[in-house]
Amino acid sequence: MPKFNTEVTVIDQITISNHVNDLGIENIRKEIIEGLVSDQKYISSKYFYDSKGSKLFEKITQLPEYYPTRTEKGILEQIAHDLMHDLNYTDIVELGSGDCSKISILLNALQKENLANINYIPVDISYSAIQNSAEQLIERFPDLTINGIVADFIHQIDLIPADNQRMFCFLGSTLGNFNDEVAREFILTLSENMNEGDTFLLGLDLVKPAQTLHDAYNDAQGITAKFNKNILHVVNELIESEIDSEKFEHQAFFNEDKSRIEMHLKAKEDVRINSPHLDQEILLNKGETIHTENSYKFTPDQISELEKTSGLKINQLFTDENSWFTLILFEK
Ligand code: AVJ
Repeated sequence: MPKFNTEVTVIDQITISNHVNDLGIENIRKEIIEGLVSDQKYISSKYFYDSKGSKLFEKITQLPEYYPTRTEKGILEQIAHDLMHDLNYTDIVELGSGDCSKISILLNALQKENLANINYIPVDISYSAIQNSAEQLIERFPDLTINGIVADFIHQIDLIPADNQRMFCFLGSTLGNFNDEVAREFILTLSENMNEGDTFLLGLDLVKPAQTLHDAYNDAQGITAKFNKNILHVVNELIESEIDSEKFEHQAFFNEDKSRIEMHLKAKEDVRINSPHLDQEILLNKGETIHTENSYKFTPDQISELEKTSGLKINQLFTDENSWFTLILFEK
């Protein structure tokens, strides 16, 4: 752990400022332990993405069963020209940026001479994700300026500079990881933070046949299972525990009532969890689960709800031929 709260790394036109340590390891530990001592045990899905988890997620996006990334990229390819051709003197802020494959599609549609007037601002909880993607992007778009921010964009949204016109992008249906209340709070905070004329491109996964959803989170190669179990390694690092991920099995199912995929880790035997940060040992019974992720699948009604809550106006709504995924362009 670095000693300083905010570290800034500078390489050519790339700066990365790291604000994750401002969150405080004690608060992170508290949040994790709170989840592990609850009746229905849970771990926040934001802890999936250490460097191993980010790599596993990238593998997931290439699986035949995992349609969201492929479908969203297809839509981006379709709309990139209209969206980006005349964009200039703008900060493109990507929340939960992950790898650079989606933003590349948009940047590629900018006019070459405008690239020098564009700042790309990836905001992600993972330093390595921002660093890797920035290095790849600079190679491909040498005139671009990149100001990465390593932060939890739910709580640290005010770290994003607001001097220029901004286009916010929140792709990959990451909003679907938040429960109703947090999603509403997030979109309201973002909307309050936006200035007149700023835009917001939001990617959301839509409801579809349950079997398709089920398969996307239960791939034949077991990559999603590995991704799910990796969260226990992240937790072990953070709370100095030694939870054996082999004592758990991957579970993912579509909860139709709540319109969400749920991922859990199900104990194959009784499991004891010990940590110097715990008052007393935690015991999981065989068959008990730790809930690790919700991935909401949206309906048109919910999208209208979002529009109302945010006070933003929907400019355009794009989808693919199967209506499996949608990209929504909001404007303030
Ligand atoms: C990155 C949150 C959009 O919910 O589909 C993929 C993460 N989890 N497989 C999703 C994920 C299991 C993904 N998001």
